[in-house]
Amino acid sequence: MTKQLSDLSSVRNPVETAQGLPNAHYIDPAVFDVEKHALLFAEWAGLAVAADVPEPGDAKPIEFLGMPLLLLRDKDGDVRVFQNICRHRGMILVEEPRKIEGAIRCAYHSWCYSTKGALVSTPHVGGPGHNTHESIKRDDLGLTEIRSHIWQDVVWINVSGTALPFEDANADLIARWKEFDQPMYHGGDYSKFELPVQTNWKLAVENYCESYHLPWVHPGLNSYSRLEDHYHIEKPGQYSGQGTLVYRQLKGDEGQVFPDYAGLSEKWNEAAEYVALYPNVLLGVHRDHAFAIILQPIATDRTVEHVHLYYPAKETDPAMRSKNTALWKLVFEEDIFVVQGMQKGRHAPYFDGGRFSPVMDSPTHCFHDWVAGRVEAYRAQQKAAE
Ligand code: FES
Ligand SMILES: [Fe+2]
Repeated sequence: MTKQLSDLSSVRNPVETAQGLPNAHYIDPAVFDVEKHALLFAEWAGLAVAADVPEPGDAKPIEFLGMPLLLLRDKDGDVRVFQNICRHRGMILVEEPRKIEGAIRCAYHSWCYSTKGALVSTPHVGGPGHNTHESIKRDDLGLTEIRSHIWQDVVWINVSGTALPFEDANADLIARWKEFDQPMYHGGDYSKFELPVQTNWKLAVENYCESYHLPWVHPGLNSYSRLEDHYHIEKPGQYSGQGTLVYRQLKGDEGQVFPDYAGLSEKWNEAAEYVALYPNVLLGVHRDHAFAIILQPIATDRTVEHVHLYYPAKETDPAMRSKNTALWKLVFEEDIFVVQGMQKGRHAPYFDGGRFSPVMDSPTHCFHDWVAGRVEAYRAQQKAAE
């Protein structure tokens, strides 16, 4: 029958003999909770994009794995992430996306915080007419800030505070895509969309990693970018994905194309790469645009995919941007039935995690190996602390 929860050894075998993660990793709320801590809180996870809060004062409440967070651009233009609660009685501070004019005021007893999180006023805290009290030390009562970092416009957070600095933890991918470390512009309202999917967030990662399914699931894409035009990308412990050698630029009605990123090397004339940066962000780069998909895990079998498209120039043709969004939306929608179908499949009690094609599935195995390793380490840590 199903494997023991703790038995992840076969997942960590070489791809030729490895099995996939046990069903519990997709359907058991207790394992979802373990993965929340071991994978999503302990590492740098994607929360949102900086373009969600374009102007100073813009604030957006986001619930991340049950945690109420506030994404905020402070008055100096820096993006910050706070726990979205007041330090007085724990009231939620911001309920809807809005512009903060001046300070963030708690609706309950009116304590106010600056956009940098400092507690700046505490009306009547020392009794009527007394706005201070010696035991209420404002310097110690600022909003709780969550460690964050922006890269490729994605707002990454490390909830535990224990991960390596982002640029060290992800040095390899940053170096691989160094040529794309240049200004990028969100395409605006028609360059973003959300896809709610009835699946575990990991299945969205696993499906994104591999090109094996292309001929059957993406016949349109496959008509010019065939299986044999793809290569695997694998960095154990960090990311995996695939690249294509035949990227074709989108053309407008008069043959016009999007501008290129500046100074790209020749490789990128034809290549494009698609990488899942563990745990939950799916990235794609091309000579003339990029995209980021933030996977927001909601429950064992529910995930929201937040898709954002970017261009190397501020001004691009809106009709072409819409067309590009529509093309990608179609591709990502084509994937929904498989990630949902695999999720349903995880309720089959005799499923043993499945087997991998040693040639075609190694990027997916690379992800499973990472998940299993992190979960094992987390469990060992918990046990040691008992
Ligand atoms: S809970 Fe915020 S001021 Fe009291
Ligand atoms: Fe796909």
